[in-house]
Amino acid sequence: MSVPGALADRPIGVFDSGIGGLSVLNALREALPHERFAYFADTAHAPYGERGDAYVAQRTRTVAGYLRERHGIKALVVACNTATAAAIHELRAEHPAFPVVGVEPALKPAVAASKTGHVAVLATRVTVESRKFEALRASVAGQASFRIVPCDGLAGAIERGDGPGIAVLSERYLRQAGSLGTAPGEIDTLVLGCTHYPFIAAELRRHCGNAVRFIDTGAPVALQTRRLLAQAGQLAVLGEGAVALLSSAAPEALDAAAARWLAQPAAAASLASA
Ligand code: DGL
Repeated sequence: MSVPGALADRPIGVFDSGIGGLSVLNALREALPHERFAYFADTAHAPYGERGDAYVAQRTRTVAGYLRERHGIKALVVACNTATAAAIHELRAEHPAFPVVGVEPALKPAVAASKTGHVAVLATRVTVESRKFEALRASVAGQASFRIVPCDGLAGAIERGDGPGIAVLSERYLRQAGSLGTAPGEIDTLVLGCTHYPFIAAELRRHCGNAVRFIDTGAPVALQTRRLLAQAGQLAVLGEGAVALLSSAAPEALDAAAARWLAQPAAAASLASA
């Protein structure tokens, strides 16, 4: 017999190719303050964005299996658009026992937010060339004009903390997006379709000003995770939340990113082999 709440004490797995998912982890901690999280950065294999579908899908499934076996997770948040695009359906089929939440570029919210009807989407190449993204685009066809920009190298530059590289690539990709602003015909809404990009919002703003709206998916993903756990009777409602940081290489790099980007502190990262 299943006991409601029996799994509530287990951690929620959160996973990205590297540090990008920390932007989602912030939203998760805010929405789920009593939960424990096991955050896995696949640093040894990052960035995923230009690797090709099969490779990303294989890594994603391996990490999900590791988090289930070694950390007994009660839910998995794939805090990576690229991994979601490559493998979310297989993950859900392989792990029917717990909720698997993915992230995807926020096209529908962008349509709702845009006044000019012109939207640009920044994301990795694997994401924008995926079938999942094609289906997402088809679902909003005709509702706005979309400029899709695959941002090769940008997540890698963010991962390395390469300031000059981030500046050059941000300028290049925003130029490719087109005319940004709020006048008729201009792009007034920018979808940050990679979880690394919220960390360079200030740099992106230097090129497009304050009037352009940025849309990411941290908050809606956190609310969806809370809804699914509540439905399953597995929401932690008491006690202090915590985060265990795990990395497949260079845990000190994850520590440095966590110190810089996490809204609340986390314990030191450890090396994890998945
Ligand atoms: N943060 C990831 C995403 O949301 C992946 C970036 C990468 O590894 O290329 O797509």
